[in-house]
Amino acid sequence: MSTNPVRNGGRLCYGGDWNPEQWPPEVWREDVALMRRAGVNLVTVGVFAWSRLEPAPGRHTADWLDRVLDLLHDNGIRAALATPTAAPPPWFTLAHPDALPVTTDGVRLHHGSRDTYCAAAPAYRAAARDIAGFLADRYAHHPALALWHVHNEYGTTCHCPHADAAFRRWLTDRYGDLDALNAAWVTSFWSQHYSDWAQLATPRATQYLGNPGQLLDFRRFWSDTLLAAYAEQRDLLRAANPAVPVTTNYVLGDWVPVDHARWASEVDLVAIDHYPSAVDGGAEEQTALAADLARGWARHGAYRRGAGDDSWLLMESAPNQLHTAGRMHTKEPGRLARHSLAHVARGSRGVMFFQWRAPAGGAERFHSAVVPHAGPDSRVFREAAQLGDLLGRITEATAGRVAAAVALGWDAASAWALRHPGMPSRAPDHHAEVAAAHRALWRAGVACDLVPPGDPLDGYRLLVLPALYLAADATVDWVRRHVDAGGHLLVTWLSGVADEHARIRLGGYPGAFRDLLGIRVEEFHPLADGDRVALTDGGYGELWTETVHLAGSEPVVGYRGGVLDGRPAITRHRHGDALAWYLSTRPDDDTYQRLLAGAARDAGVGPVCPAAPPGVEAVRRHDGDSSWLFLLNHTDRPQRIPATGTELVTGERVDEAVTVPAGGVAVLRERPR
Ligand code: GLA
Repeated sequence: MSTNPVRNGGRLCYGGDWNPEQWPPEVWREDVALMRRAGVNLVTVGVFAWSRLEPAPGRHTADWLDRVLDLLHDNGIRAALATPTAAPPPWFTLAHPDALPVTTDGVRLHHGSRDTYCAAAPAYRAAARDIAGFLADRYAHHPALALWHVHNEYGTTCHCPHADAAFRRWLTDRYGDLDALNAAWVTSFWSQHYSDWAQLATPRATQYLGNPGQLLDFRRFWSDTLLAAYAEQRDLLRAANPAVPVTTNYVLGDWVPVDHARWASEVDLVAIDHYPSAVDGGAEEQTALAADLARGWARHGAYRRGAGDDSWLLMESAPNQLHTAGRMHTKEPGRLARHSLAHVARGSRGVMFFQWRAPAGGAERFHSAVVPHAGPDSRVFREAAQLGDLLGRITEATAGRVAAAVALGWDAASAWALRHPGMPSRAPDHHAEVAAAHRALWRAGVACDLVPPGDPLDGYRLLVLPALYLAADATVDWVRRHVDAGGHLLVTWLSGVADEHARIRLGGYPGAFRDLLGIRVEEFHPLADGDRVALTDGGYGELWTETVHLAGSEPVVGYRGGVLDGRPAITRHRHGDALAWYLSTRPDDDTYQRLLAGAARDAGVGPVCPAAPPGVEAVRRHDGDSSWLFLLNHTDRPQRIPATGTELVTGERVDEAVTVPAGGVAVLRERPR
């Protein structure tokens, strides 16, 4: 395995997806000249170029890619060379109709877009290995090659006979015998008992609610299937030149059937794509969360491998428009740099955009680009060139690492299980609850790490578990050990309700953590969309409420009005010096911020930069006695923050305070205290 992810001459990576296959060579030359102007040093190439590399089965035409890689090398720009397996050519469809994906409704999809394949189909896997092998043979030692970028955003599913057969094999490995599977899926309900493996299939469209255990296992199985497809490409790329790191770009979203934590030890470098869906402050909050998640996966991967650091790479982001529901929102001046630095501050080895040049046609012709339809005489290109310059000035700051004393639990399987439509309401959503807790910490200025269950918790003073619905016995032990060691705990509604098979833990919710929290929840009272219930501290709860009985804990905040009037909403249980909090509702943002800041304070954890005013994001990186403070001013006024050291963007010495321009950034090498 490579231990050398993206050696880039000590520089931060800067660039994005470049698609020379869409343009004549004179545009390539202009592009490369513009890249040099913008300080670009890494570009992803070939990501959807299969039909240009193999126009007919087994006939390869890569002269153009030879020229592209040589041109990049001649200009000091390195390549993240992609395997094009996310976009099989039309000839593949016609030659292998059995390898086309089938939806849950049994509809077989056709080419005309991208991702038209079943990852379990032998013909697809063989064709993917062939084209990856061709690229490995031809380019594994090309001097421009910095990184292999396998496929693109693994995430599509399939329900064809190949997928069914693979699912049966996976289930046989997992359960060994049908009794164990029947027990795990509680098939005694609705006459679903399986008496022969041949009766099992991937979850299809059903008359009414499907089996929760089957749906959950399908997600796990499909994550493993996609991982196997990735790993076989990785292995042959690695065999061709072990010095070149291999990765794939993670796509984020609750629909994604990939357990990114589990994949983290299989990639040489965690790489994510991030496109916020919110426009206002939400975009900044989502950006911080995505970057913290990426760092959490990178740390998890390093822990599982027993080596490595927690850096990662922002492989795709939008240079300009944010795509919100139904429309594009053009980023305001300065936002490009702030979003980019939010990633770098949290451990990204650089900033990559999708995409370099806006295409003249094709499905994503209006997606934002560094070189837009208007050409390089444009605000977005100028801002991108400024960012290239800025990244060159702050490189030293990336020596440090983010230090957080709050751990926030993240679990793909809980997210999948909560998507089952038979839940008491549509509100439960692990992603949304993690995001809400993260937002509260972000607004309070408290740094946190995203941690998958089971990872070491040494050094974390507070563990926050939002809607961690599934808790295996090992997870219960993990939480208990943290509390026994004096760690504080904060658990929210719908955590620990079920075991790893999504079977309810009986005797009162949350079965896994009742004792630790000193409570017993008797009933759920989900709220209607838009409803809220008053809390005794002046705030309100949304989405969900519960009948909580105290069993050793003390009430901290109660419900006011409604059927739960006077009953506890938020409780606290003392374990020696440590506190275990329970939230039976989703507090409004202000209340949540206050609560989490208070819980952190009780645990001895304060904000990263107590002097930073609201709207200024602060991230600190440490390396021994050295530290660097990233300050991102999301407000429309200059902000003055007490600090001492050297501001790296301007190069100015700071003796008392640094002024961060409206909508701007500052990166301070702090004077050792
Ligand atoms: C993803 C894909 C890109 C492109 C962008 C659009 O990140 O990897 O190919 O489709 O989304 O936002």
